[in-house]
This record gives sequence, C-alpha cells and structure tokens, in this order.
Amino acid sequence: MKFPKNLTDKLETRKQNNALRQLPSATCNIDFASNDYLGFAKSETIFHQTHQFLIDNDYLENGATGSRLLSGNHPLYAITENQIAKFHQAESALIFNSGYDANVGFFSSVPQKGDFILYDELCHASIRDGIRISSAKSYKYHHNDYEDLERLLQFCHTEQPTIIYIATESVFSMDGDAPNLEELTNLAEKHQAHLVIDEAHALGVFGNQGEGLIQSLQLQDKIFARIMTFGKGLGCHGAAVLGSHQLKNYLVNFARSFIYTTGLSPHAIATILIAYQYLQTQNNETNQLRANINSFNQQKMQLGLKPMFVQSKSAIQSAIIPGNEKVKAIATQLQQNGFDVKPILSPTVPEGQERLRICLHSFNSEKEITTLLSLLSTFVFEKQ
Ligand SMILES: Cc1ncc(COP(=O)(O)O)c(C=O)c1O
Repeated sequence: MKFPKNLTDKLETRKQNNALRQLPSATCNIDFASNDYLGFAKSETIFHQTHQFLIDNDYLENGATGSRLLSGNHPLYAITENQIAKFHQAESALIFNSGYDANVGFFSSVPQKGDFILYDELCHASIRDGIRISSAKSYKYHHNDYEDLERLLQFCHTEQPTIIYIATESVFSMDGDAPNLEELTNLAEKHQAHLVIDEAHALGVFGNQGEGLIQSLQLQDKIFARIMTFGKGLGCHGAAVLGSHQLKNYLVNFARSFIYTTGLSPHAIATILIAYQYLQTQNNETNQLRANINSFNQQKMQLGLKPMFVQSKSAIQSAIIPGNEKVKAIATQLQQNGFDVKPILSPTVPEGQERLRICLHSFNSEKEITTLLSLLSTFVFEKQ
C-alpha cells in the first residue's frame, strides 16, 4: 500500500528544513547528552541490589499483568509510593508509567471546563499535550515572566467563580534555568491559584538528598501537585504525582493515562524503590554533580562563552547557536572529537533558539569538561 502523499510531503518538508528526526545509533562517546545525571542508569550496585531484593522477596515476575485497577497493582507499589511520599514530604504519591503519562493524566483530568490553566510558554510537551486534551481554558505566559502571569491572573478573576492552575517546571528541560519559585508561590497564594510543578530535572540534583528544588526551598506545602520523573536523575523509569490523598484518589478515578494502561513491571517498581534508597544514603554523586556544574560555569565564563549560554545552575547547560545547519555542524565536530553532545533543532525549540544541550553528570571528569569547553570555543569562534 502506498504511503499517503500528505505524510510524505510533511517528511520532505522536515528534510528540506534540516530538521528530520532520526533514531541515533549507540555511541561510545563521552556522555554529555543523557539525562542520567548521577550515573544511576548504569549503576551496578542499584542493578544487583534490585535483583537481590526481588529474589529475597520472591517477586519472580516479569510483568504487571494488567492495569493497576485490575490485576497489575503489585504490593511493591504501595511500599514504593509510601516511601516516595515520605521522602518528598507529601501526603501521597501516585506512580504513573512515565513522566509523559503523569503530565497528560494530570492536566487532562484535573482542570475542569470553566477552570483556567496558566502555563509557562516553555513547558514540556507532555504538559502541553495534557492541556490540549483538557476542557479548561488555557493561556501561556512569557517564560518566567510574573508580570505577564499576573496580568493573566487578573483576567481570570473577571470570570467568577474561578479555579486557576499554574503550571511550570522547577528546572526547564531545554534551557536548564529555574523560575523564581518564592515569587511564584507568593503570586499563586495572592490569587488563590493551584501550583503544579514538574520537577523532572530537579530530582537528584537539588536539595540535601537530591529531593528537588521545591523541598530545598521548603515550599512543598504551598504546591498543589509536584511531578517527579524517574527517567532522569534516578536513572530508571516511571514518574509520580505528589499531592493530597484526595488528589491521588481523584487521579486513580479520572486520569485516563493511569487507568487504561498496563502497570509498570514489579522489576521496574523495585528499581525505583532501590534508586530512592540509594539517593538517600549516598550523596557522593550529588556532590560530584554539583562540583561539575560549578566548574562548568566557571570555565565557560573564563572562555568568554557565557553570553551564548542560557543562565543555569542545573545539570542542563544550553548554548544557543541559531540555525539548524549551524548547530548540527558544531555538534558533529564535537562528536568527531569523542563527545556525545546533541543539537536540539527547531521545531523542538522555536526557530532562532536552536542549541547544543549539554548535560552534565557526576561521572564527567574535570578534564572532559575542560576539553569539551575549549573545543566548543574553538568551533564557535572559528564559525563567526
Ligand atoms: C520537564 C519534563 N517533564 C516530563 C518529561 C517526561 O518524562 P518521561 O521521560 O518519564 O516520560 C520530561 C522528559 O523529557 C521532561 O523533561
């Protein structure tokens, strides 16, 4: 059967714009691309402890066998959710199969017709996809711009009564920057809005034990819902929505991405449990990651590269290099020199905002950071 012409045309346009997405092959290059900030994804300790835990408890199963609402609610879920809730000082935690599912499930089911969702224009696709399904009215505000947000909040109050949700990330996935969370919580309080914060890139990176940015600022009691994802700093898979018991009960009843899917396997849940335990008992990786972030920031300043980077104290460091062709060329040069650095092209980011998204890890050495930045400065300055 012939592939539809309208789809072929779309792929052709992507090619012409130098924006065709292709699955990369595995690379042995030095990792400055993955979200495995603490090296947990490759930790043999976590792997073996998980394996042993499953054997010791006689959990010799490969799959969940069904939705959590039917046959898939393995006893490990309750143990793990209780531990997660305790660690994050939340009333409850509800595990979803992924961060994507958690955001889509939350935003498509919680805000109702007549409610408002105000969201940062740079929110992740999973938040925006959930909002798109929701029947609430939604408006985006300029990135981290609370004057713009307040303008929208005031507009919402012209319709009475109103329930308002504000959605943002504590560390933005493509920029690595953070909102002013104190100012944001004050604003939300003033307007009685419900804050929903995606902490995907803050877990394992911020807080004494890597508990995230919200807890490191002691703001957890002011947040309606937090989304923690486990595919980044925790190095495994899945996500949890943190909030009240009522919120958990509501999501179990109405979040379709929770209800209509097979649960994670017992092995996946055990990995989350052990990874959390490891995070709480070891802080070598978190400390080393922070040292690497500081070193990267100092060196990029010394090399005169700071103006091209989005300001960031997180593990995500984005160097804006406008134009798909140009950013791809520089990424290729870095890759040829042994560094796995990925270009982020439009339309993933807006045109003109194409960038190298450099991810720092606890396991990157000082020498690797120095070499990467000096190569980057050579390639960038020779291209000008
Ligand atoms: C901010 C943010 N939220 C949610 C997700 C989705 O998480 P997951 O990869 O677990 O589906 C991502 C991952 O790309 C993300 O960056």
